[in-house]
Amino acid sequence: MTIRKQRAFTCGIVGAAAVAWVALAPTPLVGSTRPIRARQAMVVSQDPLASRVGDQVLRDGGNAVDAAVATAFALAVTYPTAGNIGGGGFLVYRPAVGDAVAYDFRETAPAAATSTMFMRGGEYDRRVHHNSHLAVGVPGTVAGLHQAWSEHGSLSWERLVEPAMTLAREGFVVRDSLARSLAAVLPRMVDYPASVAQFSNQGQPYRVGETLRQPDLARTLSRVALQGPAGVYTGETAELLAAEMAANGGIMTQADLAGYRAVRRAPMTGTYRGYDIISMPPVSSGGLALIQMLNVLEGYDLAASGSGSAATIHLIIEAMRRAFADRAQNLGDPAFNTSMPIDQLISKDYAAELRLTIDSDRASVSSPDSFSWPVESEETTHLSVVDGARNAVSLTYTLEQGYGSKITVPGAGFLLNNEMGDFNAAPGLTTQTGLIGTGPNLAEPGKRMLSSMTPTIVAREGQLVMVTGSPGGRTIINTVLMTILNVVDFGMNIQEAVDAPRLHHQWLPDETRYERWGLSPDTLALLGRRGHRMAEIGVQGAVSAILYNAEDDMLEAAEDRRRTSSAIGF
Ligand code: DON
Repeated sequence: MTIRKQRAFTCGIVGAAAVAWVALAPTPLVGSTRPIRARQAMVVSQDPLASRVGDQVLRDGGNAVDAAVATAFALAVTYPTAGNIGGGGFLVYRPAVGDAVAYDFRETAPAAATSTMFMRGGEYDRRVHHNSHLAVGVPGTVAGLHQAWSEHGSLSWERLVEPAMTLAREGFVVRDSLARSLAAVLPRMVDYPASVAQFSNQGQPYRVGETLRQPDLARTLSRVALQGPAGVYTGETAELLAAEMAANGGIMTQADLAGYRAVRRAPMTGTYRGYDIISMPPVSSGGLALIQMLNVLEGYDLAASGSGSAATIHLIIEAMRRAFADRAQNLGDPAFNTSMPIDQLISKDYAAELRLTIDSDRASVSSPDSFSWPVESEETTHLSVVDGARNAVSLTYTLEQGYGSKITVPGAGFLLNNEMGDFNAAPGLTTQTGLIGTGPNLAEPGKRMLSSMTPTIVAREGQLVMVTGSPGGRTIINTVLMTILNVVDFGMNIQEAVDAPRLHHQWLPDETRYERWGLSPDTLALLGRRGHRMAEIGVQGAVSAILYNAEDDMLEAAEDRRRTSSAIGF
């Protein structure tokens, strides 16, 4: 039996007394699937120091947007694998009163980008695509956080950036998970001396308990605190970044940086069994694919067929297969793909048509002559925040792979993304080994690359129900889907919904990945008999979720034990 930390009884107790009490309390063997509950406000992120920063902002009277912005900046210091100012992402905001809004701060391709830029000597070059200065997209995070804050924040910008600045300048104690992660990535940073200097202790991996200081990052953050986005997109930071690019065959210029704009978008919305689904529109595929799958599954009585049954899993896989096929064929940056059939893809009528193609006893076959499964790591990060007024923020952002390109901007102290790897490889280059060559998502100047990030908020009859999201590349969409099904169809509390085993199908390759011990042998046999190819994996995703329990006006959060996770509320 797994022994887990006491959590459930801390509600209503705040501050140092509560922390001490929790530390001294006996560890119970029951109640471990209870959510962490708080009356007033809650932050869930993948790092305890960052969650604490967000919590303090809420205690100081900040709202959900303030807390999300401060938590995101803190993650850029304390969770460098995915927290960032050199990457990009998406934020969905649902105020308690008024319309929900989405912020797109996805990276863009530099002006000199071309659809064949990842080819060398007529051949596709994976290293150039994913691990080079050409893999770096124009960062969006600071612009996006600033836009969300300027439209909805309440505390000062400096107040929100300051905790991150202090963590970078004074340092923080390295925990086991970070020590292991840094030790693993260090050999991959050897080509980038500024990265080795920043993320090792004079060339040696940081050990647990040592203090990691990032003075260059602190200085960049202080420019951001004082100047806002100009602190990275112009002036000293932009000069340092452009110089690193110019010296190493990169194409990003100061003009690319100065020209970057975050985009405010209408969220992608749909319904599922009376719940409102509010998520991210393209250039993320996440919200659209999520709603498409929910629309298909709405036509089945999943509660009756039951959680984890072969019958239910079969239907979920078939919904995934279809949504991912449509994703691959249709989606890209809306500014470059003006006729994407979005309304059709998320319509209930289309879902009904798709259901007609699903045989409840037999797996469909994904056509293998288009493309296969690119390798995607788990290194994105999601945070969820709800404040006292029940304003909610769902934010997912990333450097793409863990520590992104592994390139730290010398003198500026922040890691650059390798998000250009999310563009398709090259025109027409569609292979069994994982390359995609369809048109909508080929690199072009100024274009945003297609994403799977799915920051999502669920509401019902005007009231907040859930805030959720996850890292995990394409698996993100399916992780979010299953979390919603677990709550809506199977009646799980939010911790149970997060704990429950996950699975992933993405059209091609025609295979379903499932978490180890997630499916029983007889369930696997039943799925095999229907024609499904099943592949065991370790874990999938890392959900940060908050559920609003309207019955007793409490916030209930889940920590995802698959990765580091930290829910803090009061
Ligand atoms: O935007 C995307 O879909 C990917 N770049 C996200 C990468 C990711 O989730 C990797 N790890 N979690």
